[in-house]
Amino acid sequence: NQKIQVALDGPASAGKSTVAKLVAKKFGYIYCDTGAMYRAVTLKAIQSQIELTDESAVVAMLKQTQISFQPGDPVQHVFIDGNEITEAIRQPKITNSVSTIASLGGVRAELVNRQRDIAKQSSIVMDGRDIGTAVLPNAPVKIFLIASVSERAERRYKENMGKGIETPLEQLKKEIEIRDHKDSTRKVSPLTKASDAIEVDTTSMSVEQVVDEITKIINEKI
Ligand code: C5P
Repeated sequence: NQKIQVALDGPASAGKSTVAKLVAKKFGYIYCDTGAMYRAVTLKAIQSQIELTDESAVVAMLKQTQISFQPGDPVQHVFIDGNEITEAIRQPKITNSVSTIASLGGVRAELVNRQRDIAKQSSIVMDGRDIGTAVLPNAPVKIFLIASVSERAERRYKENMGKGIETPLEQLKKEIEIRDHKDSTRKVSPLTKASDAIEVDTTSMSVEQVVDEITKIINEKI
């Protein structure tokens, strides 16, 4: 009765959380959106008027902060200190500030510990940037999802429209490129494909096709 870990990494808006949720449901695994944790810290730091680059202040705040998830369809609900922040953490202001928080080594150390604790509970699909390289380096299944910048910007655009957020496509493209660059060049656990991860390019694939492809990969490994 061994616990299976599926590490799902990749750049911004590559469709990780959408497929991670579906794959988790299909296999009966829990799902953990680690990006939501970095977003939650960013939101609370901004609300608490803590300078996002002040590592010791952010880490001190984080140690006093509870971040929790509640399963839900179609979205997983996210709570900080008991307050729901599911939608608040998707606001453009948070999206464009989160890489600063994610570059702080002390924040990463604390969140990685919490993520490993979550993964101890059950078989899991965990999505993020450093799951296969740092959080769960021994995960039997590692997938690296990519897609062209234009495709990712268009997906984000449609998602935003559904929420009534109007950001021009060109601006979204720029924001995605900036975030990828920050995430890939930071000193601590930058976004990189683990050497044993399988790359899946979702540019011209439907969500269903990606889920099928990942299902095949998991079934081959377990
Ligand atoms: O996946 P999502 O876009 O919600 O992630 C938000 C941000 O959180 C990323 O751009 C990255 O800066 C950070 N992140 C990270 N490591 C993870 C997950 C997210 O650094 N495992």
